[in-house]
Amino acid sequence: MQQRELDSTGLHFKAIGLGAMPLSISGRPDEKQAFSVIEAFVDGGGNFIDTANVYCVDDEDIGHNERLIRGALNQLGLTDQVFVATKGGLRRPGGAWITDGDPDWLRLSCERSLQALRTDCIGLYQLHAIDPKVDFSRSLEALIKLQEAGKIRHIGLSNVSAAQLESALSLTLIASVQNRCNIFDKRDFHNGLIDFCQARQITYIPYSPVGGHSGHTRLAREPLLLQLAGKYEATPHRIALAWLLHKGQHILPIPGASQVASIRDSLQATHLSLSAEDIAALDRLPDQ
Ligand SMILES: NC(=O)c1ccc[n+]([C@@H]2O[C@H](COP(=O)([O-])OP(=O)(O)OC[C@H]3O[C@@H](n4cnc5c(N)ncnc54)[C@H](OP(=O)(O)O)[C@@H]3O)[C@@H](O)[C@H]2O)c1
Repeated sequence: MQQRELDSTGLHFKAIGLGAMPLSISGRPDEKQAFSVIEAFVDGGGNFIDTANVYCVDDEDIGHNERLIRGALNQLGLTDQVFVATKGGLRRPGGAWITDGDPDWLRLSCERSLQALRTDCIGLYQLHAIDPKVDFSRSLEALIKLQEAGKIRHIGLSNVSAAQLESALSLTLIASVQNRCNIFDKRDFHNGLIDFCQARQITYIPYSPVGGHSGHTRLAREPLLLQLAGKYEATPHRIALAWLLHKGQHILPIPGASQVASIRDSLQATHLSLSAEDIAALDRLPDQ
């Protein structure tokens, strides 16, 4: 089984995590189906779930995804075996996605996430995005204080550049970086961020790894992915995930799923070994 380690601390995960966002945003499935997706993920050996306080429909619904995951894991009796990483730093007024990196909001968000996840300490707390209205170091200081208070174990960043990561590293250890990255968006390969994370032993978590919540259907129209899916008796989604896994032992993709079949298929990517020529051909696919 391909495994990934968080921050060289000995925490090991199956190399495909579950991005739980589709279970709680607009168009979400009912709770029974959502629980089945989480159960299928864990049954398939998955043990890293990515969530956020704002995976919900609006500000009134904050924490929906965290409560859902906790409920499902409790029902399955698996709370100790699955690592749940969450985030703070956004709001959802009227369903919009708005950054808010104010230290007071981050502290309140963390407290509410602790309650929603029914835990004393969050294993990985990620700053969801940098708020241009707030000095980055003030947002980061808030997370450092939460860590000092024992409320979070590791700090992660999301939606950051290499320069922002470097400035954060001058203040504290960063365990993970979560950015948009997939076969159609190779920005972080081109700009060196993924290599930089590897050199600093930072786990890189590609979000929207199969093209995005609504964009993933493009994979099934891409001729090269279809051709390779035929060759390896896989699906285009699995090929795209296997390509990411081949790019480094520090890469932990988190495909989203609202259907059991999707997450079952994605987990199979850990068993897929692509040839060097096929990886090179996938590298040459232009960004879209
Ligand atoms: N940090 C951030 O700012 C940020 C932003 C966006 C997302 N994220 C995180 O990243 C996770 C993944 O991103 P995403 O949900 O935007 O995009 P994604 O994982 O690229 O695509 C998700 C959609 O693709 C479909 N899918 C996934 N694997 C499949 C497979 N093997 N076969 C067929 N269909 C498959 C699913 O369809 P069904 O719904 O039909 O199962 C799902 O809704 C999110 O859930 C969230 O945890 C983070």
